[in-house]
Amino acid sequence: MYDFDRVIDRQNTNSVKWDKLEELYGKEDLLPLWVADMDFPVPTAISEALKTRMKHGVYGYNFTSSEYYESVISWMNRRHSWHVKKEWIIFTPGVVPALSYAVRAFTKPGDKVILQSPVYHPFYNSIGDNGRHVVTNPLIYRDGKYYMDYEDLERKIDSRTRLLFLCSPHNPVGRVWTKEELARLGQICLKNDILIISDEIHFDIIFKGYNHTVLANVSQELKENSIICTAPSKTFNIAGLQISNIIIPNKKIRERFSLELEKDHITRPNIFGAEALIAAYNESEDWLDELLEYLEENKNYFINFVENNIPQLKVIEPEGTYLVWVDCSGLNMNSEELKDFFINKCRLALNHGEMFGEEGKLFQRFNIGCPRSILEKALMRLKKGIESL
Ligand SMILES: Cc1ncc(COP(=O)(O)O)c(C=O)c1O
Repeated sequence: MYDFDRVIDRQNTNSVKWDKLEELYGKEDLLPLWVADMDFPVPTAISEALKTRMKHGVYGYNFTSSEYYESVISWMNRRHSWHVKKEWIIFTPGVVPALSYAVRAFTKPGDKVILQSPVYHPFYNSIGDNGRHVVTNPLIYRDGKYYMDYEDLERKIDSRTRLLFLCSPHNPVGRVWTKEELARLGQICLKNDILIISDEIHFDIIFKGYNHTVLANVSQELKENSIICTAPSKTFNIAGLQISNIIIPNKKIRERFSLELEKDHITRPNIFGAEALIAAYNESEDWLDELLEYLEENKNYFINFVENNIPQLKVIEPEGTYLVWVDCSGLNMNSEELKDFFINKCRLALNHGEMFGEEGKLFQRFNIGCPRSILEKALMRLKKGIESL
């Protein structure tokens, strides 16, 4: 039994989530429920593996061992019924860098890349900062749930459109796309010769009643027309160790992508990242199963609290991820007023919805990957803030 209730002080650890909040929010004394890392310590197997390697004392160049590949292959097989071959797996020091590499490998300056907004904000940067054009295919928001807009997608594709960035499960709206939804999206992309970069970093955090489908598992054609971005970082809370695996079944696509990495000599993982990945995938499944139970309870607690105490807010029930997207339009504030309200009246550091795209401007994203007591404190601050209006 792991103790997810234990609160660990993360202040003064150079934590992006907890430290230097003044620089970002103009205020230090805020409770942070923003950036996507959790406040839980890693499974014991990971910390023990790191300690053992650390004690060795020599930290020279490191390669991806056969144990590394086997642990990834076995995880994908056990948790996702996905039969991955060793040669499909390419290490990168993060999923976001991989998105940028994909943009450079498969598009030319001036080409277009589609994303489904509101979406994880670095998607915009990896397209725009590389001199390509962002084309938004906004999700449809209907009766408290989000859907893909296939008609809009077909309308927006033209001869300069090369890639589509899929977020699956979707951050921030929390959808776990069904096989049918993915197949329909895939058909449109296949018909128009658009390669899909599927960011599946949140794929292990799925709530009861939902199933994640790896895009490459939808059909043989999609297996050959997709790049699947995976990592143990969200699942096991090791984002600071910077390790991810980009899995590409199609040989030609894989070789083109690898070439881009080789140009920057990104070929070897950090020793500690690799050790953590092996311990995570081989020895930490019980921790994940307990974490999922805990997050399920956090999610239910959050939803019930808001429903019972703050009817002005509407929680979009997440199907996956530990991120909760909240519709704040009932507060009758504009985007700037909302931001100010959550920081100055509620004293919470959240992700303001507008950063995920125009469509998010009356939303806030809450990270519920924290001990229940922190969540309770945050919700009490929220309640008090609302009562002060
Ligand atoms: C959808 C999505 N992709 C990628 C990342 C970050 O990936 P990495 O830290 O591996 O670059 C995040 C982190 O929040 C995310 O939510």
